[in-house]
Amino acid sequence: MNFLQELKINQENYGVHTGSIWRAKDNLNGQLESLCPATNTLIATVNNSTSIDYEEVITQSQNVFHEWRSITAPKRGELIRLIADALRKHKCALGSLVSFEMGKIKQEGDGEVQEMIDIADFAVGQSRMLYGKTMHSERPQHRMYEQWHPLGVVGVITAFNFPVAVWAWNAFIAAEAGNTVVWKPSPKTPLCAIAIQNICNEVIEQHGYPGVFSLLIESGTEQVEKLINDSRIPLISFTGSTAIGKKVATTVASRLGKSLLELSGNNAVIIDKTADIKLALPAVVFGSIGTTGQRCTTTRRLFIHESIFEKFIERLINAYRQIKIGDPLNEDVLMGPLVDAVAVSRYLQAIEEVCNAGGELLYGGEKLPGKGNYVMPTLVKAQNHWDIVQQETFGPLLYVMPYNNFSEAIAMQNGVSQGLSSSLFSNDIKHCEKFLSATGSDCGIANINIGTSGAEVGGAFGGEKDTGGGREAGSDSWQTYMRRQTNTINWSNDLPLAQG
Ligand code: UN1
Repeated sequence: MNFLQELKINQENYGVHTGSIWRAKDNLNGQLESLCPATNTLIATVNNSTSIDYEEVITQSQNVFHEWRSITAPKRGELIRLIADALRKHKCALGSLVSFEMGKIKQEGDGEVQEMIDIADFAVGQSRMLYGKTMHSERPQHRMYEQWHPLGVVGVITAFNFPVAVWAWNAFIAAEAGNTVVWKPSPKTPLCAIAIQNICNEVIEQHGYPGVFSLLIESGTEQVEKLINDSRIPLISFTGSTAIGKKVATTVASRLGKSLLELSGNNAVIIDKTADIKLALPAVVFGSIGTTGQRCTTTRRLFIHESIFEKFIERLINAYRQIKIGDPLNEDVLMGPLVDAVAVSRYLQAIEEVCNAGGELLYGGEKLPGKGNYVMPTLVKAQNHWDIVQQETFGPLLYVMPYNNFSEAIAMQNGVSQGLSSSLFSNDIKHCEKFLSATGSDCGIANINIGTSGAEVGGAFGGEKDTGGGREAGSDSWQTYMRRQTNTINWSNDLPLAQG
């Protein structure tokens, strides 16, 4: 396990204390265990952050903010550029750690680190483009414009499935905009957070700004409850389930804070009769089994025109048969384990429920024998309105449905409470344009001839309805991490009033 040494993850005898927040503490508040999804064995135990840690982290983060916001944005961008260099240097080791602790395959672990590098590069450029508008004042010899200022300490709460990239989307954009960042990662992937934190802080501390990025780790909810209730934190970015996201949103709103929500998805692909099956087939396979079906962008529902339904399903089953399942660090494996035993039981329960509702199991549906959380990729012929189909189940579970009329397919696709990602495979320009029009997909992401997952960082990432409405990563998402100020300057000798 050379990657653990390279990343300075200290693990005497596999399973000893690894250090918790950015400064290691004695064990005052219990520990959490990081388990390897491939074997369910203990990788390491990590100290929970304490209330004292919490206060120290927030106070330090606030103090550092006062300095950090005063240096120029391009200088902040330059430090993010150096972080990107450090991430490039450790990309392979970090990708392996993501794979080892979270269970996604090595190529996806590396891809996730690449996504961090991409957003870091984006943030470097953005640091020179925090543009405000100028307006023509209605008053003579007045100048009116707007500018963007940082918010303060930004809280970032992330999920296990993207244990490093989603933090980077938030943290690098927030930091180049002049904020400091407190990260509460998933308790399932603490080592990924510690490794990233070490790398970023080493760079940024060398340049005199310790504490721009800090970390609170816990198995429970004591510190995170404080974080969302804390009026010193003007913005909370939360990635996770709709149920918890609603609690975060209402708590943050009750203190008039801002929240940025990336919640559940229930994403569909529509394949019409003109579709290029050569493109559609691998896109559906990658979308549904990539990250073992645990992406918020995972393809969960598949609507196929009835004239090609049987043929497509036959080819899909054939492709599923060839998926190599196993140790995610093994380079020829295509699908790793689910993250933990709870995820396995949720997957099995969803299959039981959909079959009880009348679903026809076409492929898979089982846990594989052995110690790890390995399950089979699964296809079920189902109906869109069934309760279980309406829910997000994190696992390689795809509901397939034939359709007859294109407008009905769009209505079914939109007929769920979530609204993250969607795709259409078609060569019919009218279908494509309809799908992308206001009467088409109601999702934050709508693609033509590519799958639902695997978004690039350059676009704004997020979804509508129960997905929470937040936008992260590229485009103008940076504005969420800043406050807008409108300035009017009178350079005349009079004091004319607006509206005459
Ligand atoms: C997530 O699952 O929370 O578009 C994020 C994708 C990735 C990000 C997924 N770039 O699939």
